Amino acid sequence: MGFLNNMRDVFGVPFYPVVFQVLMVLTFAIHIIFVNIVMGSTALAIWGRIKGGDYYIRLSRGLARTSTIATSLAIVVGVAPLLFVQVIYDPFWYTSAQISAWWALLFLVSIAVSFTCSYLFYLGGKGRGGSLFWALVSLAALLITAVIIHGISVQMLSPEKWHKWIDRGTHVDLSGGMIHTIDLPRLLHFILPALAITGVYLMLYGWYYRGKYSDSYVNWVASFGAKLALYVSCLQGLVGLWWLLTEKPHFMVHPLTILAVLGGASFVGYLFKIQNDPVDKAIPTAIFAFVVVLLMSAARELLRYLKLSSVGYSLYSYKLSLSLGSTVLFFATFIMGLLVISYPIMVAYKVGKSKEKLLELPELNLWGKIAVALPMIWFVVVAVLGLAISIKNGTLF
Ligand code: HEM
Repeated sequence: MGFLNNMRDVFGVPFYPVVFQVLMVLTFAIHIIFVNIVMGSTALAIWGRIKGGDYYIRLSRGLARTSTIATSLAIVVGVAPLLFVQVIYDPFWYTSAQISAWWALLFLVSIAVSFTCSYLFYLGGKGRGGSLFWALVSLAALLITAVIIHGISVQMLSPEKWHKWIDRGTHVDLSGGMIHTIDLPRLLHFILPALAITGVYLMLYGWYYRGKYSDSYVNWVASFGAKLALYVSCLQGLVGLWWLLTEKPHFMVHPLTILAVLGGASFVGYLFKIQNDPVDKAIPTAIFAFVVVLLMSAARELLRYLKLSSVGYSLYSYKLSLSLGSTVLFFATFIMGLLVISYPIMVAYKVGKSKEKLLELPELNLWGKIAVALPMIWFVVVAVLGLAISIKNGTLF
């Protein structure tokens, strides 16, 4: 399969591929958590509205709002693993996306539809929110989005089948009109946690609004979330087992896979234990859930690594064209982004928790000034660097 290596970027990668791989696993874990919150909150908002009653309608309104915010976060955080996968697995990712090109384009449309409809549901009407129809369309569009990205992610793992998918006997089909493979247990393994992760989110909701909303409502939300997380995680364990049994034995017995399975099982045990105390245990549960998702993401990457190694591809042998300058700029931008974004997050956190209509936050003033100044400094640094490099390379004058 030498052609796979020849399809790599001839310039190579600017930094050690393992660093991109680790960042890809990390950012995928964050992406999938937001994806789960979007899907889970949309589904529960629909359910709450159908079920009716004070608490359910109130929760449905809250979750309708959550789904709009979580969609933007899922989209923004989706860009990161997209960039990393394109850098270290480019021959596979681009081929898979080409084979299903229409679907890759439809992906953008379905996200836009889902986003728009989730706003129509959240903002429409008075008091109760918009028509349920919009929420249902939004959920359907989310499912289509998930199936498309899943198809592309799975197709890339089977280069030995690519030619069969485009060979139509009399002609080569380059229309990109089909998704050729769906791995149902794998797809369910990433979609079903939507309800479990949203359950954990509801525990956090209870913890966050304790003292602001009535105790009975906050406790009701948190224990509803804890139950949901427990039951769905049990189901998730079964789906995970189903997926595992469809994969090759060397993946099943790999220490990382075993660690991920043990992590998932202990999480279920922990959820069982904290059922009577969901508000106080919300933070440790959320941390535990994140660690388990991270382990699952690492196991998912291990599966890709093993499958592609078996066809002779190793990302570690990618040509290295070390570019320290751009790598330093990348990490500095990343750290700066965290510092900048932490300011609006802190403000939103304090404002959301407070009962006051107008809130002064003098303790955050300095932080705010830094958060405004940093992007300006960054802009100047990047512009000066760009100009200096262009002049040095003779591309400007
Ligand atoms: C909000 C709607 C979205 C949903 C429901 C969704 C769902 C999913 C699911 C279920 C997977 C796992 C597929 C699998 O491995 O079988 C996935 C992976 C992925 N998603 Fe999303 N996604 C959404 C938005 C996005 C956006 C907007 C981007 C890019 C800007 C994106 C980028 C990715 C990438 C790159 C992967 C695969 C990463 C890898 O192969 O390591 N997603 N997504």
